[in-house]
Amino acid sequence: AVELLEDKNGDEESLLQTLEQQINWYGRPMCLFQGFWCPSFTLRSLLCFQKKFKPHDTDIVLASLPKAGTTWLKALLFSIVNRHRFPIDQSPLLTTNPHRLVFSFECVHFRHEDNPNLENMNHPRLFSTHLAHQVLPNSLTNSKSKIVYVHRNLLDRFISDRKFFLKTNQETDFEPLPVEEAFDMFCKGIHSFGPFWEHILGYWKASLENPDRVLFLKYEDVKRDPISSAVKIAEFVGMPFSEEEEKRGLIGEISELCSFEKMKNLEVNKSGIHRGSIENSSFFRKGEIGDWKNHLSPEMAERLQQIMDEKMSECGLML
Ligand code: A3P
Repeated sequence: AVELLEDKNGDEESLLQTLEQQINWYGRPMCLFQGFWCPSFTLRSLLCFQKKFKPHDTDIVLASLPKAGTTWLKALLFSIVNRHRFPIDQSPLLTTNPHRLVFSFECVHFRHEDNPNLENMNHPRLFSTHLAHQVLPNSLTNSKSKIVYVHRNLLDRFISDRKFFLKTNQETDFEPLPVEEAFDMFCKGIHSFGPFWEHILGYWKASLENPDRVLFLKYEDVKRDPISSAVKIAEFVGMPFSEEEEKRGLIGEISELCSFEKMKNLEVNKSGIHRGSIENSSFFRKGEIGDWKNHLSPEMAERLQQIMDEKMSECGLML
């Protein structure tokens, strides 16, 4: 596909014509690429990422579906990995939104350049992606780099996604689909980076096959016990907390720094701009478990549960 792109002088329009396409519930085009609904604007970056990315064994990648807790896990990972560089009270997180500290492969690095120079980054390099495990470059999946995947209750994720895009797309002409129709598309797997069941299963199976390479986390578990989650993440990335760090309360300080209340109330996250008309504050809405109950019916929840039971039953994943 990259050759096709290159043959056509970078004209991804021509490649797009060969793919099935859909408009998502808030009016943005997506194309079905290697079995996943890829927002069309990320097609080129995905292809370049697949072809050109050169992993280092020390790389750490945060993977997630959008609205599953990406911002939070970026903050946690950044703090854990860089704790020897920055004391907590001088953390860049105090003045910088987590999305500016950990960039996405498809939305930033390979979006701005076909072959970005990633060699000058601090080590270990931290990246993020919403792409499914199945479409990651072989170079990455065959390397020793680590992947942290965060899963979130799909109903909460769906509502979080909806609220985010209703807030950040107010000025477009497209009338967003009503929640019932958007939910129907979601249940059919027609949503950005979906189908969700394939996305989750890809990382889940990889975590079973290579537990030292892929860590499968749940938003709800991190929320209930951020300290144990920070310990788990630090061990997984090969940077366990020392006894001395534990004694002086560093783990608690990191979890406090990255907590919803703290992050939401930092000036940079109250007033800063993420990109275009998207404000940093849009990434900090409620941060609760179970908010879906205020927006979706029990019947909708049951429909989704049935899909999950059907798709996940064989692999031992209880969600
Ligand atoms: P809600 O819309 O339910 O509040 P993402 O970072 O993947 O875009 O996900 C955004 C969701 O994570 C939003 O959920 C947001 O409030 C929540 N979130 C952001 N930072 C958080 C934090 N530090 N702790 C818990 N949840 C957080």
